[in-house]
Amino acid sequence: MDIVIVGFGTVGQGVAEALSRKAPTLQSAFKEKLRVVGVFDSKSYDVSPKGLDPREVAGRKQKLGRVGPELNGKGVLEILEEVDYDVMVEVTPTNIKDSEPGFSNMMFALSSGRDVVTANKGPLALKFKELSRTAEKNGGRLRFEASVGGATPVINLSREILMGERILSIRGIVNGTCNFILNRMKDEGLPFDQALREAQEMGYAERDPSYDIDGIDSAAKAAILANAIFRRDVTFHDVRRTGIRGVSLEAVELAAEERKVVRLIAEVSESRLEVSPRLVPIGHPLAIGGTLNIFQLMTDLAGDITVAGHGAGKMETASAILSDIVALLKEDCASRKKEA
Ligand SMILES: NC(=O)c1ccc[n+]([C@@H]2O[C@H](COP(=O)([O-])OP(=O)(O)OC[C@H]3O[C@@H](n4cnc5c(N)ncnc54)[C@H](OP(=O)(O)O)[C@@H]3O)[C@@H](O)[C@H]2O)c1
Repeated sequence: MDIVIVGFGTVGQGVAEALSRKAPTLQSAFKEKLRVVGVFDSKSYDVSPKGLDPREVAGRKQKLGRVGPELNGKGVLEILEEVDYDVMVEVTPTNIKDSEPGFSNMMFALSSGRDVVTANKGPLALKFKELSRTAEKNGGRLRFEASVGGATPVINLSREILMGERILSIRGIVNGTCNFILNRMKDEGLPFDQALREAQEMGYAERDPSYDIDGIDSAAKAAILANAIFRRDVTFHDVRRTGIRGVSLEAVELAAEERKVVRLIAEVSESRLEVSPRLVPIGHPLAIGGTLNIFQLMTDLAGDITVAGHGAGKMETASAILSDIVALLKEDCASRKKEA
């Protein structure tokens, strides 16, 4: 399996490291060579049909700020035209306005029957149907476990392990930054602005925190869950969204008196698509603290199933991408066996 990594920041470099560490085990399990044949960032690239040493490329990126020769006005896709690869790992920045460059990158790969594994929410939250139709039409596969919940395996759990279930609804905490802020308000009695400043100082929240605190990130993830698990045809704009900007310290304190906490909950079902602050009884799984992500799935046979894990981070997100790569290897291995 020949892989190109498009986007070589935190997650791209995590994927490079994960592949270096796991390739020998995976190769012997699936009897297939696993090679990284191309790496791209916004300004430079490195390609080799024989396979690159992903750790070496990551080292170069950290030392020189680039992965290889400059693109020099050439587009990534122009160079990719000449590269023979099977899977594109698309990990450029999420753009919730127009989904670029991720959407064009993914469409380029899927249109030629290649597989795409991504953590990039923009294209999935805005143009899911177009992407999945293109994949289906051309025989490519689109996998995106890392786009929701980071290392928490909610998508593949729902679509594969729980395939025989009817999933009635999913409620989750999908933004660790909001959870951190709400927790600091409750535990330390901090007003919202001060808890937000602390989150920014600790590197959890961006200088422009709107993406997290106004529920934009959570809504993008809710839209992806609706499309992927409930087979709905929605975009990020269809999500009823209220963020945590309006949550006052008084409201948090009042909730505590009733042994409840305020949590930013994403709820998705066949008929619901909503992100809003809600009251959750202390002791309920969704009252989880820290920056973890959590999902509670209501199913028709198994009842409630809860999964929690790290929603972000270099190696955590890379682990979800790796799980999708392994799923592709497994499928390829099964079809080779069938043909033999
Ligand atoms: N970080 C996490 O924990 C996490 C968790 C879940 C999902 N995600 C998603 O994963 C994706 C990557 O996140 P990240 O944290 O790795 O972001 P990042 O550190 O900002 O890295 C983005 C990379 O994309 C490159 N890039 C930007 N525009 C490009 C273009 N037109 N063509 C090729 N490469 C381009 C950047 O190039 P330069 O290096 O030259 O700037 C950089 O290498 C995002 O969509 C994010 O939402 C991240």
